[in-house]
Amino acid sequence: MAEKVSILISEQEVADRIAAMAAQISEAYRDKDLHLICVLKGGTFFMTELSKHLSIPCSLDFMALSSYGDGTKSSGNVKIVKDLDESIEGKDVLVVEDIVDSGHTLNYLCRRLNERSPRSLKLCTLLDKPDRREVFVHVDYIGFQIPDAFVVGYGLDYQQKYRNLPFIGVVEL
Ligand code: IMP
Ligand code: MG
Repeated sequence: MAEKVSILISEQEVADRIAAMAAQISEAYRDKDLHLICVLKGGTFFMTELSKHLSIPCSLDFMALSSYGDGTKSSGNVKIVKDLDESIEGKDVLVVEDIVDSGHTLNYLCRRLNERSPRSLKLCTLLDKPDRREVFVHVDYIGFQIPDAFVVGYGLDYQQKYRNLPFIGVVEL
């Protein structure tokens, strides 16, 4: 079954914003060893596009967390489902996420990653829904702040569908 999806941020706007973020990150990490950590599955499209536009070398790793069922609300009960392949000790880590909503996922992730002694730990998200925050997270790089609506596309899903849309859309539930 297909839900109705309307465009919130166009493919071109997403592409332009990611290129600008990559320029900013390349500058900030010019003399560092940038290690990107993608939060699966939603962060994959964003990390791929972002990393292609970086003008500095970087390494990549992946991690999966769960806090959502198939619904649209965070449980606040976050778990590591797939851990990193490599140590982050002494590395300049930048976590790449699709969206910060309640903040539970990144709040938990930052606490777990900081225990592993990275040289630095920063956060980057394509989308931010500040009105929905329940716990504090400091996000260093934000693509777009959006209103409180359930969005899909560019990695974001509704019941595992629509991750492949090239734009950010709103599902009419
Ligand atoms: P948080 O823990 O509430 O901040 O939620 C983080 C995770 O929930 C994100 O990484 C997404 O996977 C998912 N999420 C939050 N809001 C949306 C949305 O509007 N559409 C799709 N997934 C979402
Ligand atoms: Mg996510």
